[in-house]
Amino acid sequence: MIATIIPDVRNHYPVLLSEIISIITPQYGGTFIDCTFGQGGYTKKILNFPETKVIALDRDSESSKKAQELQNNFEDRLLFKNIKFSQLNNLKLKDENIKAVIFDLGYSLNQIKDPKKGLSFDTIGELNMKMGINDFSAKEAINQLDEKELTKIFKYFGDEVDSKRIAHNIVEDRSKREITTEELVRIIESSKRKRNYKTHSATKIFQALRIFVNKEISELIYGLINAAKVVKKDGVIAVVTFHSLEDKIVKYFFKSLSENKSVSRHMPKTEEKLNLFKSVIKKPIVPSDKEIRENPPSRSAKLRYVIKKENFFDFETDILDKFKHLIDIENLSKKL
Ligand SMILES: C[S@@+](CC[C@H](N)C(=O)[O-])C[C@H]1O[C@@H](n2cnc3c(N)ncnc32)[C@H](O)[C@@H]1O
Repeated sequence: MIATIIPDVRNHYPVLLSEIISIITPQYGGTFIDCTFGQGGYTKKILNFPETKVIALDRDSESSKKAQELQNNFEDRLLFKNIKFSQLNNLKLKDENIKAVIFDLGYSLNQIKDPKKGLSFDTIGELNMKMGINDFSAKEAINQLDEKELTKIFKYFGDEVDSKRIAHNIVEDRSKREITTEELVRIIESSKRKRNYKTHSATKIFQALRIFVNKEISELIYGLINAAKVVKKDGVIAVVTFHSLEDKIVKYFFKSLSENKSVSRHMPKTEEKLNLFKSVIKKPIVPSDKEIRENPPSRSAKLRYVIKKENFFDFETDILDKFKHLIDIENLSKKL
């Protein structure tokens, strides 16, 4: 999940940067959408090519400071919006010739290090986990959802084998004391039947809560649908994922719209079936050994991309049905 840590240098480290650049080819100019601006690693690299323009989005308002710095250097070639990428379709992009839409999912080092965000199990204090533009925090979820609901979140978003025991112990414990980040870690550790010596016991539960609080499943699905609408013919959609749920969604979306079955043109009325995308790679691109050595958290990164083959913007996809069971879990938050 943590996309951008370099252990000793402690600098921002954009994952799979040279691979992304070779796919989106900014050397030929054009307008690019960076859906996950973060510390601006991808955006800066693109803007270093002269004939380019970047529309950058990030849900975390902290990113706007970095964007401001870049705007001082690149002036009118960078437009930054503090919005979620699911809202991509609200931007007025009709006249823009969008050459690529890129997503680098996960969290930046700055976010992980920010104690107020409480994204990491090393944080001391209140449970939060909000990335930016959220409706509720992890504290509300942990304190207000019932045992069954918490079990579902942990099981489906974290793939945690001890989900039920952990949820049960949270519900017991919260009636006696406030559940802070430290307290949650303690409950998880005492609920686990087997210790895993490779990863921290709280890794999966924290992943599950972050996905739930930030509605990462529906964000990704609507982000992909809208990216496919705004990118022009021959343009690219490229996504870097950090865990298997994200990768599964991206893989399905790309595959289902690259095969000759699930896309049909809405207008004019016709039975003609078209493939929206051309899929160039069968397997995802992963970081080199050198990159993993320099930035160990990059080891879980997977990059997939497609090229849009057709110049139409209205298409059918069954992705919302396919992942309805996950969206239903996100919707448990409606009661918060
Ligand atoms: C791994 S960082 C991106 C790093 C970036 N590629 C760079 O080189 O600096 C992910 C960023 O995406 C943002 N983000 C995650 N989900 C988002 C969403 N649904 N909409 C907008 N931004 C999002 C996070 O706030 C974070 O800043």
